[in-house]
Amino acid sequence: MSAKRLLDQGLDEAVEALVEWSKSGKPVLLISHYDADGITSASIMIKVLNDLAIPFHVKIVNQLDEPTLRRLEKLLERHEFLIFTDLGSGQRNLLSRYADKNILVVDHHQPIGGLAADVKAWIEVNPRLYDINGNTEACASTMSYLIARRLSSSNISLAPIAIVGALGDMQDCGEKGQLVGLNRRIVEEGVKSGYVSEEMSLRLFGLRSKPLVECIARTTNPYIPGLTGNERASYKFLKSIGIEPEVNGQLRMFSSLSKEEVRKLVTGLIKYMIDVGLSSKEAERIIGYVYLFPREKPESPLFDAREYSSLVNACGRLDKYGVAIAVCLGDREESLKEAIQVANMYRERLGRYIRLVVSGEIVEEYEGFYCIHGDIVGIEEKIIGTIASIAASATLLPKGKPVIALTRAEKEGFIKVSARLPRALNRKGIDLARALRFAAEKVGGAGGGHEVAAGAQIPIERKREFLELLGESLYNAK
Ligand code: C5P
Ligand code: C5P
Repeated sequence: MSAKRLLDQGLDEAVEALVEWSKSGKPVLLISHYDADGITSASIMIKVLNDLAIPFHVKIVNQLDEPTLRRLEKLLERHEFLIFTDLGSGQRNLLSRYADKNILVVDHHQPIGGLAADVKAWIEVNPRLYDINGNTEACASTMSYLIARRLSSSNISLAPIAIVGALGDMQDCGEKGQLVGLNRRIVEEGVKSGYVSEEMSLRLFGLRSKPLVECIARTTNPYIPGLTGNERASYKFLKSIGIEPEVNGQLRMFSSLSKEEVRKLVTGLIKYMIDVGLSSKEAERIIGYVYLFPREKPESPLFDAREYSSLVNACGRLDKYGVAIAVCLGDREESLKEAIQVANMYRERLGRYIRLVVSGEIVEEYEGFYCIHGDIVGIEEKIIGTIASIAASATLLPKGKPVIALTRAEKEGFIKVSARLPRALNRKGIDLARALRFAAEKVGGAGGGHEVAAGAQIPIERKREFLELLGESLYNAK
């Protein structure tokens, strides 16, 4: 059967099951992941449950593992109907124990393991089961959206949050940062119905909602060495290319620039980035596709999908799930205000940690990698991955080595490890997932992930041994 037919069949199966569940009048337990894709996919499923008048209880978790399931044991016992979003496919073995329950998994991670023979009511909607790339073409919010759409065409209104989830998982990997695959279908549908617009534009953070100086200083993708994180330098940069950053004591917005000034800004930024050592390809990433939501106010942080995504991401990482879900479901008053405050707090914290990396205070150089010791300054478990991503993608550390960042895990006695590969090392035979899994298992921990982004948990007292093992396993293919 064609992949498309299989996908349609999977969506039908999910919708039929939900309609059937609704007849019981019993509540659903919805368990999701804390990142932007996890929060948006949970929000979409909440809308679906509301549409069907199904009562529900939501839990957002760091990961789906034995200790988490133990913590949720009472809740799990009480519920006959379970939904997992942005997790579940990788934990089929663990979930097999709920053979007597009705389970819907909406995920895009690699399915791992089989289901026990007595598991009967298991429905899994995952792009990888239909030959669709789960890293680049669809994520959990994409699949949740397709289920919601199948249930009701009015759920096209959810296209924006599906897109926010896909951008949160960095699925904008087409030419010039375009969304591709199933994500593209959602964009097209959203554009047709007026919920979304797609434009080629300058990709500065918050371009429509914030003063230009702030936009430049806040841009991390692409990272602009010397300007990112530094408003004073960004102010001076604008002056140096002949753009007045402020008028009558008021910082200027991008919308106030003349055509000539916009041209100066674009060429000035690209020239600057090349001058400080970025490749022209990297510098040109400052121009690309942006996704806008015309039904939001242009000055709102929810107008630009990437800014929206960073707001949801910040809430997730600082444990403010309820706030983020409320915003996704439409609260533009108190929850939005709170989300903006949370995002500011998150940004300050991130800035402080990045400065510690740049100053070298918490960095140790090994022969084969850089190690960021986040435990020294108490970096939160949910922020360490972001620090590793920024350190690997920007020129914070002399290029050419994988970045291994670690910190104390929330789980007593454990260290959380996040590893990222700088782009220049892609497809050079280094497989972070394999290396981390190997070294972690040797010291009584666990690890995995992707070639370019992986993670692990290890016992605290075996940190040094783990790092030594990693030094060997990173460069020993197979
Ligand atoms: O936590 P972090 O963002 O560093 O995770 C990177 C990747 O590694 C993710 O895909 C995550 O699912 C995976 N991972 C894993 N096992 C762990 C920790 C992370 O497979 N113990
Ligand atoms: O697999 P998972 O979604 O849990 O991955 C989490 C982290 O890995 C995110 O920080 C994401 O940006 C990063 N990642 C990446 N490149 C990939 C896949 C994931 O940087 N190809």
